[in-house]
Amino acid sequence: MALDVYLLPDRAAPEQLAGRTVVVIDVLRATTTITQALSAGASEVIPCSEVAEARRIAAEMPDGAAVLGGERGGLRIDGFHLGNSPAEYTPAAVAGKTLVFTTTNGTRAMERCRTARRVVLGTFNNLSAIVSAVRGERDCALLCAGTDGLVTAEDVLFAGAVIHQITSSNRDLELNDEAFLASRAWCGLGDRPDLLLEKCLRASRGGCNLLSLGMAEDVAFAARIDTTSTVAELLADVWRIRRVA
Ligand code: MLT
Repeated sequence: MALDVYLLPDRAAPEQLAGRTVVVIDVLRATTTITQALSAGASEVIPCSEVAEARRIAAEMPDGAAVLGGERGGLRIDGFHLGNSPAEYTPAAVAGKTLVFTTTNGTRAMERCRTARRVVLGTFNNLSAIVSAVRGERDCALLCAGTDGLVTAEDVLFAGAVIHQITSSNRDLELNDEAFLASRAWCGLGDRPDLLLEKCLRASRGGCNLLSLGMAEDVAFAARIDTTSTVAELLADVWRIRRVA
């Protein structure tokens, strides 16, 4: 099995993702929040790169059908119903609704995957479910969203956690150098990474941003391992994210 990590979207040319299974990773917070929204019963998510595009798509939908969610600068966007805190995405807020969603880095990383064969969204909350979803694949890429063009430890650690779990049942992995580094970063957390993960996420680039905004609870939410078996898949042909498990 080939398993490549790209520490930033720009490090993966579209042709390097073409025809592959890609796990998009924006642990703080886009992929965590989208997975939570689908767990809470949102019918689907439309990822948008731009705020104006999100507003237009929501405005074209019947009254009450859409929930506008996302952030700029980490904060809820003016006129949007919800921000980018996963805990906001309760059944009362989103069940049966289409979430029209835009974030600074996460939804843009998804744009990179238009040539991929299959795209799933990775979070610590569904780590084992993601590993199960990709374990049988022959050719897989883990695409870290990063923060504003810079590598972020939280995404790299998640990539390392996926590699670590897959390695436990498949010794025949071909890793690129970034995958090797991600794997070593995860192994550096020792035998009980769950005990250290929240602390590491708080110290990461994305975590520091959230702490400075008073959003420590979002870091704690994102650090929980295997709280859901929901798998969110981006269907590139219709540009919708749906729950597939
Ligand atoms: C993003 O997609 O840029 C992140 O989810 C930012 C954030 O934490 O809101």
